[in-house]
Amino acid sequence: MLVNMEQMVKEAAISKKAIPGFNVFGYEDAMMVIKAAQELNAPAILMSNKDAVAHMDVKYQAALYRALGQDANIPVCVHLDHGGNYEICAKAIAAGFTSVMYDGSQLPIDENISNTKEVVKLAHACGVSVEAEIGSVGYNDPTIKAKAIYTDPQEAKRFAIETGVDALAVAVGTLHRMQKQNAKIQYELLEEIQNVTDIPLVIHGSTGLSNEDLTKLSHYHIGKINIGTALRMTFGNTLREEINGNTDEFDRIKFFKKPMKQVKEVILDKYKLLGW
Ligand code: G3H
Ligand code: ZN
Repeated sequence: MLVNMEQMVKEAAISKKAIPGFNVFGYEDAMMVIKAAQELNAPAILMSNKDAVAHMDVKYQAALYRALGQDANIPVCVHLDHGGNYEICAKAIAAGFTSVMYDGSQLPIDENISNTKEVVKLAHACGVSVEAEIGSVGYNDPTIKAKAIYTDPQEAKRFAIETGVDALAVAVGTLHRMQKQNAKIQYELLEEIQNVTDIPLVIHGSTGLSNEDLTKLSHYHIGKINIGTALRMTFGNTLREEINGNTDEFDRIKFFKKPMKQVKEVILDKYKLLGW
């Protein structure tokens, strides 16, 4: 069943669970997210990131992920991750995404608020949920110029009230694209933020979180935990082994079998750590 994110993140935030939002690149990993979620009777969030959008137009992604969601017997949200401007959010909404993130985290707060409000206006009129970011999570990748700045609790409060977003991404110690689970979460800061806001919070860059931190965070007022690199590393590294080990084979769908199986294991593991 296809849904937006509003209700599922609200429920997850007040429970001792958080929903893993997985970055997916296409059928192979998206299908594994749905299968794992169905096994656990958990909701699923399929997220398209900037690289995926550059590779395949959002209208084709929307058609694929919507079809997977419609056939599933669990709630499935089709979410645009890190939409960098109004136009891409509008394009994703028109294509059928049920949820979008507008990412104005590199802008001054007033500009971030006014741009986010525009996206909220359009999205909510279409029944689409909106996530935005205050503070900046940053990247563990020197080629990406994005500052890492912890979220200021008073700015989070103002941002949530003025924009009307459904979920708020905050920067409390993770970085995107960490390959090791050694992020240092600022729990006091997270508590301060959740004490002055009542919106479901979102943690990005969650590949960098230890198993203990994933479980601990699921008990906070957090609706969604974004995970991308962990799946991409598993798929890519297993695919490389498969190709190197089967030099006579050339049909790529045969190479995909084992990476899909391994990715599903990682997905199940993350769900379980997050309380499912
Ligand atoms: O928006 C996507 C994520 O925040 C995923 O981050 O690739 O570091 O797990 P990650
Ligand atoms: Zn992110």
